[in-house]
Amino acid sequence: MKYQIPKGLFDIVPYDGEDWRIIDKWQYVESVFRNLALDFGYEEIRTPIFEKTELFQRVGQTSDIVTKEMYNFEDRAGRLLSLRPEGTSSVIRALLEKNMLQNRKTHKLFYIGPMFRYERPQSGRYRQHHQFGVEAIGKKSIEQDAETIHMLWEFYSRLGISNIKLHLNSIGGNTSRNQYKTALLKFLKPHLHALSKESQVRFEKNPLRILDSKDSKDREILKKAPSILDHLNKEEKKYFEELQTLLTEIQIPFEISDHIVRGLDYYNEIVFEITCEDFSGTQNSLGAGGRYDGLIHSFGGANIPSTGFATGVERVLQTMIQQKAFFPPKRHSFLYFIPLCKAAETLCFIWASELRINKISSDMDFTAKKIQASLQKASQLEVDFCIIVGEDEIKSKTFKLKNMKTREEKTVAAVLFLQEIEHHWSKIHVGLQQNPSL
Ligand code: HAM
Repeated sequence: MKYQIPKGLFDIVPYDGEDWRIIDKWQYVESVFRNLALDFGYEEIRTPIFEKTELFQRVGQTSDIVTKEMYNFEDRAGRLLSLRPEGTSSVIRALLEKNMLQNRKTHKLFYIGPMFRYERPQSGRYRQHHQFGVEAIGKKSIEQDAETIHMLWEFYSRLGISNIKLHLNSIGGNTSRNQYKTALLKFLKPHLHALSKESQVRFEKNPLRILDSKDSKDREILKKAPSILDHLNKEEKKYFEELQTLLTEIQIPFEISDHIVRGLDYYNEIVFEITCEDFSGTQNSLGAGGRYDGLIHSFGGANIPSTGFATGVERVLQTMIQQKAFFPPKRHSFLYFIPLCKAAETLCFIWASELRINKISSDMDFTAKKIQASLQKASQLEVDFCIIVGEDEIKSKTFKLKNMKTREEKTVAAVLFLQEIEHHWSKIHVGLQQNPSL
């Protein structure tokens, strides 16, 4: 093939793809997320997929996501732009630009869309991935933190994902974190030569990220490292403890993981990650987030506290498939018309048009020649009924109705067409409404 999809990207298709790339599965998890957002009082925001590069540089001067993994380009007028690597910065930019923060004190927003990171592609890691995310802006409260964490937890529960673990940490405010940074550097200095290459670079640029290292030798050294939790001030400690109490109250189990520091620069205090042991990819973080109280101020706005999370759709779907989680049956047309002569083609088309106006889903074989081949197509499309009209039916003013589940076939008078179809449609339609999963 002359043209191939760029490395690290994938198509989402209606059929003939790996299970996790089938569109109706994407639509299902998206609808679960939309309903969840509604249940937690969040409204949707849509921002562009590219922004001025400087916006993202503001949130990631020391992060790989911004310094190494961004897709940067110049437009025809020489402006420096970047495909968005994440959603939080754009949401805050949009709120500030439209003065929305002045009109309302708090905002609870969600978004769904592609993000772009030039990472080494591997299972669970793509150069275009998709996120469901939320941002709760305007309030620093234990309840607000607990709400976003609960929401992410509940999302996975509604999808039937099991074996998940919530990792919780507080990375403190700037002062505590700087004190901790000094203590960590002091501890790591004698081990510097033994650390992985990546961690040696981080030692200079962003030592806290060393805590995130997956390298086994680094992990061994880090076992004895000082903990950020011992460097929190009194208020930060109290806030973190109160959050734990509230999460326990609403029965969300968690594990304190003091090595979680997150890959973007804007976080302070509460950070969290939900992982799944069964996720087969190299990255087992399904979703993550935290508090970012200084971001709006650093964008030129007031001091407005905020928190949020994002979860990767690819990882969610891959985990669901691995765990054999429930997906609703694929939606398909109810009726399939098989016209076998010119006069039948016109009649079937008029009938199909009439049904479609009445919201009865119908499809038609425009190339029908042999009945068996058309019935095979109908089976592939998983339709409920076929209507077959040939020269004989035109002459006798009838049509054949074939039930594709029972394979029963009967001849019906053409004048009774609508009556007959509505009868079968309402039977299936009632059945669908009674299915709680839809
Ligand atoms: P993040 O942890 O960088 O956070 O990304 C969120 C989620 O996106 C990850 O947990 C993972 O599931 C998924 N993800 C990230 N990179 C990739 C990739 N290359 N391929 C597949 N999936 C990926 C953020 O982006 C923050 N903006 C989250 C946030 C919102 N914090 C506060 N509000």
